[in-house]
Amino acid sequence: MATLGVNIDHIANVRQARKTVEPDPVQFAFLAELGGADSITVHLREDRRHIQDRDVFLLKETIKTKLNLEMAATEEMLEIAKKLLPDYVTLVPEKREEVTTEGGLDLKSNVQYLKKAVGYLKDSNIKVSAFIDPLDEQINYSKEIGFDFIELHTGKFAELSGSEQYKELQRIIESTHLANDLGLVVNAGHGLNYNNVKKIASINNMNELNIGHSIVARALAIGLEKSVREMKSLITSN
Ligand code: PXP
Repeated sequence: MATLGVNIDHIANVRQARKTVEPDPVQFAFLAELGGADSITVHLREDRRHIQDRDVFLLKETIKTKLNLEMAATEEMLEIAKKLLPDYVTLVPEKREEVTTEGGLDLKSNVQYLKKAVGYLKDSNIKVSAFIDPLDEQINYSKEIGFDFIELHTGKFAELSGSEQYKELQRIIESTHLANDLGLVVNAGHGLNYNNVKKIASINNMNELNIGHSIVARALAIGLEKSVREMKSLITSN
């Protein structure tokens, strides 16, 4: 059965909207673990738009599950990972102007550089995953480069519906089989929500699903009424 990695970047997005101290993603990681998260994922972006350096180092000290650091394979991030020693690093492509990670890594054009980056992380006993589109070519390159895991990009699956979504699901299933045959552990994520997650979770040998936006959106939906009630009570009592 697949495990659940909870991505808490969006908690930090709310904090950074005011550049203040709340909500603190470190506290929310604790709550996510109480709810059953099997790992905590954060993406430390070059522009630090949400998660900050302070967050990743505090999370490393405080979480009781596993820390999955998403990052671009830049020299700056490789140095941070080496100091932080997360349980996993997931290498992702990163563009300053994007709203969220668009598309998987292009492994083919970066084989030599990525071999060095993966080797550098593995020397510190960090397991390394590649966020890739569900394509045979990308899976074969993941093996060649030396990744331990892959994370299949489910963004396209999440956007499609009907027979088109079914086709994309078959592509993800076939990619999972191919990767397993090559000895790679398979995770998946992006765009998974309360309506579509079961189709991906029921794939044989799916290791972990990384989910962020829909969980944080749901937290707002089920928590807002109570938080308004508490504020109203403070204002109206006495
Ligand atoms: N996996 C990766 C590699 C991601 O970049 C993201 C988005 O930060 C996710 C999973 C989670 O996607 P979502 O927020 O749509 O659940």
